[in-house]
Amino acid sequence: MIKRESIDDIISACRIEEVVGDFVRLQKRGVNYIGLCPFHNEKTPSFTVSPAKGIFKCFGCGEAGDSVGFVMKHEHYAYIDALRYLANKYNIEIKETAQTSEEVQLINERESLFAVTACANNFFSKVLYEHEEGKSIGLPYFKERGFSDETIRKFQLGYSPKQRDALLTYALKQGYTQENLEKAGLIIVKSHEANSRPFDRFSDRVMFPIHNFSGKIIAFGGRVLGAVDKHISKYINSPETNIYHKSDVLYGIFQAKTAIKKADKCYLVEGYTDVISLNQAGIENVVASSGTSLTTGQIKLLNKLTDNVTVVYDGDSAGIHAALRAVGMLLKENINLRIILLPPDEDPDSFARHNDLRQIIDYFSENEQDFLGFKINLLLKDLGDDPVKKANFVNQIADDIALIPDIIKVSMFVKQCSALMSVEESILYRAVNKIRIKNYKNEKDKQATGESNIAEIFTTKPQPQTLLDLTPLTLVDIEKKIISLLVNYGNKTLYLPNEDPLAKEKTMEVRVDQFIFDNLRSDEIGFETPLYQKFYNAYVEIVETNPIDITNKLKQYPDAEINNLYLSLIEINPTPSPLWESSKVKSFINTIYNNSEKLLEEVMRTLQMLRLMKLITIKTNYKKLLKEAKSTDEALMYLAKIKEVNLISCEIEKVLGVTYR
Ligand code: CTP
Ligand code: MN
Repeated sequence: MIKRESIDDIISACRIEEVVGDFVRLQKRGVNYIGLCPFHNEKTPSFTVSPAKGIFKCFGCGEAGDSVGFVMKHEHYAYIDALRYLANKYNIEIKETAQTSEEVQLINERESLFAVTACANNFFSKVLYEHEEGKSIGLPYFKERGFSDETIRKFQLGYSPKQRDALLTYALKQGYTQENLEKAGLIIVKSHEANSRPFDRFSDRVMFPIHNFSGKIIAFGGRVLGAVDKHISKYINSPETNIYHKSDVLYGIFQAKTAIKKADKCYLVEGYTDVISLNQAGIENVVASSGTSLTTGQIKLLNKLTDNVTVVYDGDSAGIHAALRAVGMLLKENINLRIILLPPDEDPDSFARHNDLRQIIDYFSENEQDFLGFKINLLLKDLGDDPVKKANFVNQIADDIALIPDIIKVSMFVKQCSALMSVEESILYRAVNKIRIKNYKNEKDKQATGESNIAEIFTTKPQPQTLLDLTPLTLVDIEKKIISLLVNYGNKTLYLPNEDPLAKEKTMEVRVDQFIFDNLRSDEIGFETPLYQKFYNAYVEIVETNPIDITNKLKQYPDAEINNLYLSLIEINPTPSPLWESSKVKSFINTIYNNSEKLLEEVMRTLQMLRLMKLITIKTNYKKLLKEAKSTDEALMYLAKIKEVNLISCEIEKVLGVTYR
């Protein structure tokens, strides 16, 4: 763990325009900087960096954050790695808190395995390019497959020589231990008896290193050279180790991540060579599941980057059947799964070599189809006319659709699939809804009995709270508006008419946040939305200890939900273009909130709206109690209360110039 003080040092050293400027070409525009957003494709800059606030925000795609957030998003680093990156950039020494000896041991063990795999990879690359055997056997193999030097270096391909202990000998000489070589899966120790010699796991093979998300080598695949015969397996892969958990890894993710994010889409293929050839052809957003069917861990990895996954398979691939089984898992994670079938006798590798980029892109866009539709067409063929079989089939598709969390997508799929299966839309709808309600209840029960997997709940995307969301949107909106006023104008000053007529000063000064606190406190109003209540509590807590530095404290608040809410609400005034500099537009923008009167009006209005919404809730409640009243007295009491609430709401409505009925 990095010490708190080091974190503070790093964060206060960061200048957002410098951090972002290392990756994005920025131009000064007024007090801010603008540039082309690195997180989505755009031609005119809507990506704004505010040195004053220490944050960036894209008005196109909505990405926003501070320096640490930028490095995390751009480089796909974990928080801690982003901090290390920034510490390094600003030459800040990192002080770490003491760790338990077990933690130290685990970290050390992983670090030393990373060191061993890096050493092995250096060896394989060096042999490929510098040694006789590599140059005469390994390199020609790759060249024959059409891989360029650039591609070979990009994927750090290598060659492991015939000699059965070449790597072992080299690595021992470099100071690595036999124990770690074995733990990294690089050598095989048949028996631990004294006179049996350990040997390399991979020899006489071309080597494909497997990287983790941040680019460290964690494992290898080694392919036999030339033709494959029955007695020897085409690929040998590293076993599971402390740094390699096959089911959580996608081959090529490190090389592809930026392209995936940018295209908001990922192509999924089966093999190492498919990834490499497509890459060389110019399709960079591609990864491979390396011969396994997709796992939840792999989907989680993709989910960090995009919701759009398209599998690219040859028509009779075993992968299709694996994908058919995985479809439920993908739908549940809200992934938009599509499929592209290649022409007969082509796999992605050969297809990429036989066509140029234009042709590949055209073929992909013409042949991409939705996976559920594909599944329906595929299974429909074997169905015949049997009505019972058909009913089962419809239910099976309803099962799939019911897993989709997004209600809008559900209705889209119902429309499409009912047409494909020629069943009435309403019938499919009813089937889907029945299953959704059942699933929802099951999930609720599981949560109630604590059976549900906690990790799962936290890592999957939030599910809709209820099936029928009847909460009045307006109350949530107003609560959000209050929070937004705090975030953007909390430290601004309001000038209120002084209540004491004898006072010398005609106006009194109060900060916006203080004004809001006072109002909410005096009316004992809380937030219905738990997140907003949490944020409000955090805000109050920060102001009480440090009213000056709220912005920074909110950005760094140790709760991701609060940071995210802050970032989604913060406004950077869009900087007017130079053409506007002298025109009325600029003064208009400034008058909205730099003007205390306007701001006061806005704050008051919002608070009144909140009161009004609360009163409506209270009234509804009284009306319900009135209906259930057991005596005349009780009924009269509620009637009186309702009348009272009506009076107050009318007053507020008059002030606001609105009516709510
Ligand atoms: N695979 C494996 N072990 C095998 C065969 C395959 O681990 N014995 C994995 C590899 O990750 C491989 C993927 O499954 O990349 C797809 O297999 P395949 O299509 O047979 O291999 P390709 O990558 O296409 O290799 P090549 O083009 O050289 O035949
Ligand atoms: Mn192949």
